[in-house]
Amino acid sequence: MDQSVENKKYAPIGVFDSGVGGLTVAREIMRQLPQERIIYFGDTARVPYGSKSKETIIRYSRQIIHFLESKGVKAIVVACNTASAFALEEIRPEMKMPIIGVVKPGARVAAQITKNGRIGVIGTEGTVGSRIYTEMIHRHNPEAVVEGKACPLFVPLVEEGWLKDPVTIEVAKRYLSSFQESDIDTLILGCTHYPLLRSMIHEIMGEQVNLVNPAYETAQGLKRLLEQRQLVNDGRETGRPMYQFYVSDAAEKFKNFANSILPCEIEKARLIHIEE
Ligand code: DGL
Repeated sequence: MDQSVENKKYAPIGVFDSGVGGLTVAREIMRQLPQERIIYFGDTARVPYGSKSKETIIRYSRQIIHFLESKGVKAIVVACNTASAFALEEIRPEMKMPIIGVVKPGARVAAQITKNGRIGVIGTEGTVGSRIYTEMIHRHNPEAVVEGKACPLFVPLVEEGWLKDPVTIEVAKRYLSSFQESDIDTLILGCTHYPLLRSMIHEIMGEQVNLVNPAYETAQGLKRLLEQRQLVNDGRETGRPMYQFYVSDAAEKFKNFANSILPCEIEKARLIHIEE
């Protein structure tokens, strides 16, 4: 094998999100691809992305991708539904290295597993308003009926750590009641924070509704992508840090949240000025 390709496989994966939400994606990569190194960037100074314009999200995403490229990553995972919805297709042609988002993998699986062709999508206002999930689902299943519901309060509730709080249950019941009439059998958790509310959503929606976690599907997609490009880390090169975390603000808060959901203990998150 070409020496540069051989070395490239030991480079880390760049993963980014508007803040802590993408840690649910990083967590899946850690579980499914334990030999892969990760450099994570959480844009904690500019979160939330879900209520911002497409132009702003594209600008932020470009800045972050440049930062990750400067760190020598071999591939990039856009671990944010809103950034995947607004920026990925725009930026992909500018990139030399592989880049994947969370929308396509989740949409593909939902289109495959639905039996009655009725799929619900919950996400930020940006993601739901973009109708990107509908478009991607229709590529696999043109007949599918897709119904979206923005659930903006879920993000602050999760960040507050109120995962099982009665207030969160009440909010969830109210949002999800919009699916009562629609007979969906599949629901996409189309925002990085929502997998942390999975058991509550499952309880409210009932056994008959399959929940799709795009974070899980994205890690599977990443695995296939690395195999195709011969970029799988075989774990033979040791001595370099496995996981590094960077944020644009509130590093300590980020670290504490990360340590509450990741399978490993992180020692620090480094603060950087992403606009510079
Ligand atoms: N990470 C965002 C997403 O998946 C949710 C948080 C935000 O609005 O920035 O869409």
